[in-house]
Amino acid sequence: MKFNNHFYSPNDQFKAKWSNFENSKINFNLDHFKEELVPFYGTKDFENFTREEKIQMFFEYIKFVSEAFLLFEQLIIVSERSIRKNKNIPFEFKEKLWHIAQEEMYHSIGFKTFLNGSTQLNWKNHKIYYHTKIIRTSLCFIVKNFPTCLFLPGAKLEASSLGYYVELKKLYDSNHHNSWLELNAIHSQDEAHHVPMQFELHNDSILKLGALKTIVGSLLFFIALQLTLFLGIRQVVEYSFPQIKGARRLTPLKKWILTVKMAHWSVRNNESYIAARRMTKRYFQSQKPKFGIFFKYITW
Ligand SMILES: [Fe+2]
Ligand SMILES: [Fe+2]
Repeated sequence: MKFNNHFYSPNDQFKAKWSNFENSKINFNLDHFKEELVPFYGTKDFENFTREEKIQMFFEYIKFVSEAFLLFEQLIIVSERSIRKNKNIPFEFKEKLWHIAQEEMYHSIGFKTFLNGSTQLNWKNHKIYYHTKIIRTSLCFIVKNFPTCLFLPGAKLEASSLGYYVELKKLYDSNHHNSWLELNAIHSQDEAHHVPMQFELHNDSILKLGALKTIVGSLLFFIALQLTLFLGIRQVVEYSFPQIKGARRLTPLKKWILTVKMAHWSVRNNESYIAARRMTKRYFQSQKPKFGIFFKYITW
């Protein structure tokens, strides 16, 4: 997969940084398994899973995270294209958003190369929600019609990518240890700028594009995103426990219970999410987003 986009010429340093993710030289397999990255880690439930189940959950959850970033990055590009057409928006604003969108374009190709390049992930046959048309169509519909809706909810997702990298770094000894860590390392360099920029974009656009529209759109986007992530976790459960028979057989009800528990772990025990919430709260205090009271739910 090649980075070629006619309307963007990033500098050589930026290109060099992403060059490993232009091809499929992906180094990510069982040698890189870490219990700490398995859902339920640190809870009582964790001990009830077999090693095989933990390994499968490890890979499926990484796919879930990777696809979530990929999906969001593509939505940023949709938002930029929609706002670009608006004649009332100043050039400087469009340029700032365009800059983010182009970096996201690189990120999305990087995550796609990673997903395609690791045979262990089996992404070709086992996609989490990337292939689910209804999800993509609904999110695209919201973003196209409410293009400013993803600035603040997006800042939190981007903050979680920063928190995620911090957690990964603790587990492996160098950024070149494996492709997943390397990808998250270079991704976080860009995202560190994006988080505050999303707050600036929000403040610069909300009155020009309509406060009510942004408030309603952000809420719709936030709900749709939560639903998407929840269904993604349901898929992680589905792929992680394929052939359990006998007393431990997972009935549909048990699968939904596991899904709810895994979703709960993701937002309450997962250190990267806890860090993202803390960071988002801090930005809410320092950047004072306009009409912030209507967006407070993002920090929950
Ligand atoms: Fe990104
Ligand atoms: Fe970003």
